[in-house]
Amino acid sequence: MAFGTETVYGLGADARNGQAVAAIFDAKGRPHFNPLICHYETADAAFEHIEASEIAMRLADTFWPGPLTMVLRRRVTCPVALLAGAGLETLAVRVPAHPVAARLLHEFGGPIAAPSANRSGAISPTQLAHVLAGLDGRIAAVIDSGPCRVGVESTVVDLSGPVPFLLRPGGVNVEALEAAIGPVQRGITLERAEQSRTLRSPGMLLSHYAPNLPVRLDASRVEPGEALLAFGPALAGADLVFQLSASGNLNEAAARLFEGLHWLDAQAPARGLSRIAAMAIPLHGLGLAINDRLTRAAAPRA
Ligand code: TXA
Ligand code: MG
Repeated sequence: MAFGTETVYGLGADARNGQAVAAIFDAKGRPHFNPLICHYETADAAFEHIEASEIAMRLADTFWPGPLTMVLRRRVTCPVALLAGAGLETLAVRVPAHPVAARLLHEFGGPIAAPSANRSGAISPTQLAHVLAGLDGRIAAVIDSGPCRVGVESTVVDLSGPVPFLLRPGGVNVEALEAAIGPVQRGITLERAEQSRTLRSPGMLLSHYAPNLPVRLDASRVEPGEALLAFGPALAGADLVFQLSASGNLNEAAARLFEGLHWLDAQAPARGLSRIAAMAIPLHGLGLAINDRLTRAAAPRA
């Protein structure tokens, strides 16, 4: 069933049950088996399944429950279905902060594997209506958990190698991560992301989080036929505008990003608009995650 977390809605199943996990891939229509994040009620429960390093424990103390996912080596005794981890020796684990997710994990009493609750390649859902629009009729249930507070997915950091490696910018700022554990490797620019990231993290194809309409980045004017995704004072000349944050607040913009893409997709055709122009977003704080998602939304479609 789908349920709310503080980042986006997840589509959850018993992580120990291979058939239940397979049903997640089926409902999403994932073309191949990307590894899923396993959600736990507590850090202790997560650490029973993976080999926690000192850095992992420090991150858990600082950011859990919250929008941080750690990739660590599985213990040999780890009961999580191999399909959930796509056969890798590592497992991605996270303790979510949303009260609905926490309650569900508590009542269930075991690990829940959950990708975002959208059809493969589509925009992640941050509201009940988004989940239903993508998956109604394909899943058993969805718990109405209200709108998601953070609005972009968790930060994924790989701790299985010699140095911490940022696989996906997300709800926890890299600046905050580095304040807690020192330098985190992220030598990849967004343009080079496809090659380097898909090798380390099979789910991170460049074209992803894609709305139906093509997206143009860093717009400094609105071209004919374009709807506008605005950040700060909106550019003149757009018939249709979704404002991420009038005051230029990156946290507010992250929380509204996917809602904005869903909304523009739904509204633009009736106005005869066929593209989305996105204004530039600064590359610090949650801006890193926002730019990452927008770059994927704008990437050539497979
Ligand atoms: O905020 C979130 O993280 C949401 C909520 C539901 O928790 N979940 C989410 O899951 O975004 P998903 O499946 O859409 O993204 C998980 C990402 C994928 O890109 C996958 O490739 C990567 O994490 N991942 C999972 N396990 C991994 C592993 N063992 N090694 C490297 N990357 C992994
Ligand atoms: Mg996803």
